[in-house]
Amino acid sequence: MTLVVTGATGHLGRLVVESLLARGVPAAQVVAAGRAVGRIEDLAARGVQVRAVDYDDTASMDAAFADASAVLLVSGLEPDRLRQHKDAIEAARRAGVGFVGYTSIVNADTSGLRLAEDHQATEAALRASGVPYALLRNSWYFENYTANLPLVLEHGALLGSAGEGRVSAASRADYAEAAAVVLSSPAEHAGRAYELGGDEAVTLAELAAEISAQAGRVVSYVDLPEDEYARTLAGFGVPEPMAGVLADADRGLSRGELHTGSGDLRRLIGRPATTLKEAVASALRALPTA
Ligand SMILES: NC(=O)c1ccc[n+]([C@@H]2O[C@H](COP(=O)([O-])OP(=O)(O)OC[C@H]3O[C@@H](n4cnc5c(N)ncnc54)[C@H](OP(=O)(O)O)[C@@H]3O)[C@@H](O)[C@H]2O)c1
Repeated sequence: MTLVVTGATGHLGRLVVESLLARGVPAAQVVAAGRAVGRIEDLAARGVQVRAVDYDDTASMDAAFADASAVLLVSGLEPDRLRQHKDAIEAARRAGVGFVGYTSIVNADTSGLRLAEDHQATEAALRASGVPYALLRNSWYFENYTANLPLVLEHGALLGSAGEGRVSAASRADYAEAAAVVLSSPAEHAGRAYELGGDEAVTLAELAAEISAQAGRVVSYVDLPEDEYARTLAGFGVPEPMAGVLADADRGLSRGELHTGSGDLRRLIGRPATTLKEAVASALRALPTA
């Protein structure tokens, strides 16, 4: 059994590798793949196979997938990621990989988020490929919010355009564990689409209130019109196309498109998902002390 995790140089993929090892998969059977492999030399030192994979370099995928029984394809971030994903799926098919897991977006069947378009087309390519697959349709990471905690605390404001919509956020580690469960027992999951999200869905006002309560400072949620939110993000240095996509995602959030009550995440990982309270507490603990 050789399990290849792409995106292992990034946050989610690395956590998937850690989760596979924690579940008792021998390190020699785990392949951590990504571009910036210098970032994961420590995994090589622990016996994990490290392979360079660039979604723009077909030969690198042919080599990395050659002996793979299963591949987790972590979705990319670049503008032409759909073509990259299609190339990766085609490489997996050529290599005779027995199973591909793909990190998609929650409610992909119906989502109107601009971000969802590449995921929907990738899912279609996977279905057409004939390779057995499972879809790990992730809702938002709590870390999307907690990564900005210093700024939020400094300004006493959490900005968004999500209205009173509820997001089924969970931690990256939760989603990674779900991916590791699926990747390490592919036969049980082939053909399945999992709608993954936290057990409780929260509004951004509730998130701000939780930060306030735990940090002991007033933090309010400030709801902006979509275009104003996009302009504000751009003003903070987010590249304009991405600012638009993020504001559009908040509008989707306001319509409930990042909400799921499926319970799939909890069932896959066999424990409750990380709560809002836990996510905020752990992010506050991680802040450098002044
Ligand atoms: N659900 C959510 O809330 C949410 C939020 C943000 C992103 N996402 C999606 O989930 C994915 C994983 O999230 P993350 O937090 O782990 O992101 P991340 O830390 O930015 O990691 C992205 C990974 O994708 C790899 N990658 C990007 N382009 C690649 C290419 N052309 N060839 C090979 N590898 C490539 C990167 O490799 P190198 O670093 O080695 O270049 C990195 O390992 C993201 O890529 C994005 O599609 C989901």
